[in-house]
Amino acid sequence: MTVRSGERTWRPSLTTTLASAGVLAVAAACSTTERPEEASPVMLTREELMDPQTCAGCHPDHVREWSGSMHAYAGVDPVFLALNKRMQRETNGANGTFCVNCHAPLAVRQGLTTDGLNLDRLDPKLLGVTCYFCHNSEFHGGGLHNNPLVTLDDGVMRGGFHDPVPSTPHGAGYSMFTDHVHDASAFMCGACHDIVNPVGAHIERTFVEWRQSHVALEKRQNCGFCHMPARTGLAAQGKGVLVRQVHDHSMPGVDLAVTPFPEMESQRASVQKILDDSLSSRLCVTTDPATGLVRVEVTLLNETVGHAFPSGSAQDRRAWVELEAYRGGAVAFESGHIPEGRAVAEAGDPAMLLLRDRHFDAEDHETHLFWKTARIESTQVPVNRSSREPESSRARSHVYTFPGPLPERVSMRVKIRPIDVDLIAELVSSGDIDPAVAARIPTLTLARTEVSWTGGDPCAVSPTKSP
Ligand code: HEC
Ligand code: HEC
Ligand code: HEC
Ligand code: HEC
Ligand code: HEC
Repeated sequence: MTVRSGERTWRPSLTTTLASAGVLAVAAACSTTERPEEASPVMLTREELMDPQTCAGCHPDHVREWSGSMHAYAGVDPVFLALNKRMQRETNGANGTFCVNCHAPLAVRQGLTTDGLNLDRLDPKLLGVTCYFCHNSEFHGGGLHNNPLVTLDDGVMRGGFHDPVPSTPHGAGYSMFTDHVHDASAFMCGACHDIVNPVGAHIERTFVEWRQSHVALEKRQNCGFCHMPARTGLAAQGKGVLVRQVHDHSMPGVDLAVTPFPEMESQRASVQKILDDSLSSRLCVTTDPATGLVRVEVTLLNETVGHAFPSGSAQDRRAWVELEAYRGGAVAFESGHIPEGRAVAEAGDPAMLLLRDRHFDAEDHETHLFWKTARIESTQVPVNRSSREPESSRARSHVYTFPGPLPERVSMRVKIRPIDVDLIAELVSSGDIDPAVAARIPTLTLARTEVSWTGGDPCAVSPTKSP
C-alpha cells in the first residue's frame, strides 16, 4: 500500500499562520499514481509497528542510532522523571499531561497515562519519542508549540520516499512532514521543540529562533539538514530494496544520558562533533588609554547553529567562557574556571561570560522549576535573521578588564554542561532523584573556540574549522 499524506490537511495552515512567516514553500505537486498491489508481503500489525524493536530486523542502523538518542531517552531520563514527579506533587496534578505529552507522546495518545507518574509500569515501547510517533504523525495546526501533532494510527510508516519497494511489510509512503527537504518537516520537529509553560512563558524557543533566521528564510535549511545528515545506503534489509539516501537518527545536540544507556560512546562523539564547529571566537587584547587597564574583549560568533546557542532547555544548560591571562609565566587574571562537581552559579565569578536563560517566577525569584517561570532573561548567542545583517547580529561580546601591563598570553575556550549540579542538588533535596546522577554530568569543550593571543596583532581568531 502506498499512500501520500499531508498536503490536504496542510494547505489551510499555509494561508494562515505559516504564510505570514514566509517560511513555507508550496507543497510540491507530485504524481498521485498509486502503485498496484503487488505480491503483498505479510503485513505488520499496528501493535508490532508501535514497538521500535520490531524495526530492528530490517532497519538495524536506524534502530541503533535512535536507541542512543535523546528521543529514546526522553521517557526514562531520570531528570525528566524527577522534575515531572515534583511538578505533579507541587501543582496537585493541575498540569496533567503537559510534560509527558512530549516525552512519551504515544502513551498519552493511547490514553495510558494522565500524568506521566506511571511510566515505569507501562510497556517500554510507548516511552520516548518513538519511530511510530514520528513516522505516523502529522501537523494539522493547533498552535506551534506543546506538541499538537496528530497520530493517525493507520499503520502507515511515512518517510521521504514516494516509491517504497513492493516487499515493504508495512504501509509506507511519502509525507512532507518526514521529508527534511520540505519545510513542513520543521513544523513537525518544531511542534515539540517549542514550549510555552502553563503560566504562558515561552520557555523553549528553538523552533521560533530557527523560523526567524536566515538559515530558514534564505538557505531553507530545515532541522533535518543539520540534525539528520544523509548518506548513501540501504533504507531497509529486504527483497528488491534500492540504494537510497538514508538519514542519521542519532540526532545529537548537547545532552547525554546520565544512566547506563545504549550507544553512549558514539552519542558522546556525535555531540562533541556537532558542538566543535558550532561557535568561533575572537579574542582582542589592548590597553585602555583612558584607564591604563588591560582590556580583553571576547566575541563569540554563531557559525553552524540554525538557532540560538544554547537553545531549547537553555535554562538548564550552562555554557561559559574559560579564560586566563599570563604575565611572567604566572596567572595574572582568570575567569570561568569551574571545578567538576561545582555549580557555575556558585563560582562567585561576576566577570564570567555565561550563556543561558535565567528563569524567574511570578514573585520574581529565580527558579529552576520551569513550570513556574513567568519571566526569562536570556544571554544566548543569537542566529542571524538575514545575511544582510552585520556580523554583530550573530555575536555575543564581553569585555574583561584588569590592571596592566599587557600580559604575554591570553587563552580562552567555551565550555558547556547540559545540566548543572545545582538543579540535581535541588531534586536530591526534595527526594526526587538519585544523588549519583550529579557525578555523571559531563562538561564539554567546543574545539573551535579554543584561541590564544600571544601579542603582535591585537586580535586572535578561531581557525576556519575545528582542529
Ligand atoms: C520485515 C522488514 C521490515 C520491518 C520489520 C520494518 N520495515 Fe520499514 N521498510 C521495509 C522496507 C523493505 C522498506 C522499503 C525500503 C525501500 O523502498 O528502499 C521500508 C520502508 C520504511 C520507511 C520509508 C517509507 C517511505 O515511503 O519513505 C519507513 C519510515 C519505515 N520503513 C519505518 C519502519 C518502522 C518505524 C518500522 C518498525 C515499527 C519498520 N519500518 C519495520 C522493511 C521493514
Ligand atoms: C514528540 C516530540 C518531539 C518531536 C516530534 C521531535 N523531538 Fe526532538 N526531542 C524531544 C525531546 C522530549 C527531547 C529531549 C529528551 C530528553 O533529553 O529527555 C528531544 C531531543 C532532541 C535533540 C537532542 C537535544 C540535546 O540537547 O541533546 C535533538 C537534536 C532533536 N531532538 C531534534 C529533533 C528533530 C530534528 C526533530 C524532527 C525530525 C525532532 N527533534 C522531533 C521531543 C521531540
Ligand atoms: C544550520 C544547522 C542547524 C539547523 C537548521 C538546526 N540546527 Fe539544531 N543545532 C545545530 C547545532 C550546530 C547544534 C549544536 C549547538 C547547540 O547546542 O546549539 C544544534 C543544537 C540543537 C539542539 C540542542 C540545543 C541545546 O542547547 O540544548 C536542539 C534541541 C536542536 N538543535 C533542535 C533543532 C530543531 C528542532 C531545528 C529546526 C527547527 C534545528 N535544530 C535546526 C544546528 C542546526
Ligand atoms: C524525531 C522523529 C523521528 C524518529 C523518532 C524516527 N524517525 Fe525515522 N525518519 C525521520 C525523518 C524526518 C525521516 C526522513 C528524512 C528525509 O527523508 O528527509 C526519517 C526516515 C526514516 C527512514 C527512511 C530512510 C531514511 O533514512 O531516510 C526509515 C527506514 C526510518 N526513518 C526508520 C525509523 C526507525 C526504525 C525509527 C525508530 C528506531 C525511526 N525512524 C525514528 C524522523 C524520525
Ligand atoms: C512541547 C514539548 C515538551 C514539553 C511540554 C516538555 N518538554 Fe522536556 N524537552 C522537550 C524537548 C524538545 C527537549 C530537548 C530540548 C533541548 O535539548 O534543548 C526537552 C528536554 C528535557 C529535559 C532534558 C534537558 C534538561 O533540561 O535537562 C528534561 C529533564 C525535561 N525536558 C523535562 C521536562 C519536564 C519535567 C516537563 C514538564 C514540566 C517537560 N520537559 C515538558 C520537549 C518538551
